[in-house]
Amino acid sequence: MMVCEYQPGLEGIAAAQSSISNVDGQKGILEYRGIRIEELAEKSTFLETAYLLIWGQLPTSEELKEFEHEVRHHRRIKYRIRDMMKCFPESGHPMDALQASAAALGLFYSRRDLHNPIYIRDAVVRLLATIPTMVAAFQLMRKGNDPVRPRDDLDYSANFLYMLSEKEPDPLAARIFDVCLILHAEHTMNASTFSARVTASTLTDPYAVVASAVGTLGGPLHGGANEEVIQMLEEIGSIANVRPYLEDCLQRKAKIMGFGHRVYKVKDPRATILQDLAQQLFAKFGSDKYYDIAVEMERVVEEKLGHKGIYPNVDFYSGLVYAKLGIPTDLFTPIFAIARVTGWLAHWKEQLAENRIFRPTQVYNGLHEIAYTAIEER
Ligand code: CMC
Repeated sequence: MMVCEYQPGLEGIAAAQSSISNVDGQKGILEYRGIRIEELAEKSTFLETAYLLIWGQLPTSEELKEFEHEVRHHRRIKYRIRDMMKCFPESGHPMDALQASAAALGLFYSRRDLHNPIYIRDAVVRLLATIPTMVAAFQLMRKGNDPVRPRDDLDYSANFLYMLSEKEPDPLAARIFDVCLILHAEHTMNASTFSARVTASTLTDPYAVVASAVGTLGGPLHGGANEEVIQMLEEIGSIANVRPYLEDCLQRKAKIMGFGHRVYKVKDPRATILQDLAQQLFAKFGSDKYYDIAVEMERVVEEKLGHKGIYPNVDFYSGLVYAKLGIPTDLFTPIFAIARVTGWLAHWKEQLAENRIFRPTQVYNGLHEIAYTAIEER
């Protein structure tokens, strides 16, 4: 057995072999199954991209139609899941509600037939179909309203926006939201994907795999950063305050949310696309003062931290897009999860195909041979 040195955060350690996505962090390139993210954002849809990531190639039109049909007809959640969600405290974070609800699916579909392609397909369809319904249901129920039934005549993204607002969305808003889902669908061995693969490697069910990944995504160093970006822009409040705010952060050695990445040392290509989407939304629905603050922040951060490779990541502009779509701030990370369930499922399948349980080692730096002290002597 080859023994490696301890690397905090496993930086630079390969945890799996994967053909799902690839990042070139120096050149700012992201590919899904070899296709550049820019091309998918322009030409694909979220469900087509999900098919690509999970099944390994772009679907034919027949395959896509069948996949869309299956997802469309599995959007409803069981009334007992709805009733369980009604009991969640309305002050709870929607990510916690989502994690609990995703895990609860395992109670209803507990058969664990991991060698059966029909079981795999069912689980993929059910998770892709019901996670948006659960996010929207919690949003309405925490406001004291009944959840809205999904509409089979609406596409994936239009239906989600409809379930949130009870209004059919503007087609540009629905398309932009769909592109956001494409951008967040997968991103190599990030923390939540690693968590999904570790859980998958024990051969547990896919609902536990997704629930563990949702829990990991929620933290502010990972998916939770998009929420914090909006709070930070609100706190800054004006273009004039950008420089003093950032100087204060740097002096306190505080991390600036939405900037920096373990892999990208240039601007994240998804941030560039999201910035363009934000501009499209502002052109149609009116400008946003936080956008101007964000652009100034990017300029000053580049001036101060560009030499360290600190540039905007995917979370910097996504919140501005979601806010313009009328989405509450604490739903930004659950929306990230709606998209990323695709990547988690693709990694779940890949892990199963060549599984070995994750069982790393550690460098023990504790004591030895210590005598037990009786409680009254401590
Ligand atoms: N603001 C200020 N300085 C930073 C930042 C930042 N956002 N990110 C990294 N640095 C500095 C850091 O202080 C360190 O400097 P020095 O070498 O002088 O001590 C250097 O850059 C390396 O930082 P690190 O913390 O060792 O880098 P990491 O690879 O462990 O962390 C990160 C990556 C994404 C956790 C970090 O950049 C960060 O905390 N960013 C803010 C939170 C954020 O936006 N998270 C979203 C990540 S992308 C999407 C996702 O994963 O969900």
